[in-house]
Amino acid sequence: MSDQTLAPTTTVTLQVNGQGIEVTAMADTPLLLILRNDLQLNGPKYGCGLGECGACTVIIDGVAARSCVFPLAGAEGREITTLEGLGTRAAPHLVQQAFIDEQAAQCGYCMNGMIMTAKALLDRNPHPSEAQVRNELSANLCRCGTHVEIIRAVMLAACRKP
Ligand code: FES
Repeated sequence: MSDQTLAPTTTVTLQVNGQGIEVTAMADTPLLLILRNDLQLNGPKYGCGLGECGACTVIIDGVAARSCVFPLAGAEGREITTLEGLGTRAAPHLVQQAFIDEQAAQCGYCMNGMIMTAKALLDRNPHPSEAQVRNELSANLCRCGTHVEIIRAVMLAACRKP
């Protein structure tokens, strides 16, 4: 195989959870793969890989985004937050605590994406209506069908927000 058949690589500096990190990979590599494979940030999950399920959701410049369809080259200079950038086990983020209190998880695979989507919503609208929460989370899929508890958890987090 000649070098001409290889896709070009690029080196970008990512801002992930407040840290600058240099990454070299093909420009169109999905951000999700960089986060999980290169940076060992496993908060974002691989679900569909097609931008359909929301399991891979991270927050980019304050907006919930599907990292499985977000190219590395587009992430340069953007503020990226993954689940690891929220709370800790000892001190969960307000949204995480609400998901725990409402026992919103069943298998748990979709939870991280749900939490990131909910956080982005509450950051820009601290006290949304239930209809707004439902609308925001409507594209995050839960195969266990625990959507009722998830909506309740987000509403609880909104109640606790100052
Ligand atoms: Fe990204 Fe499903 S894994 S939307």
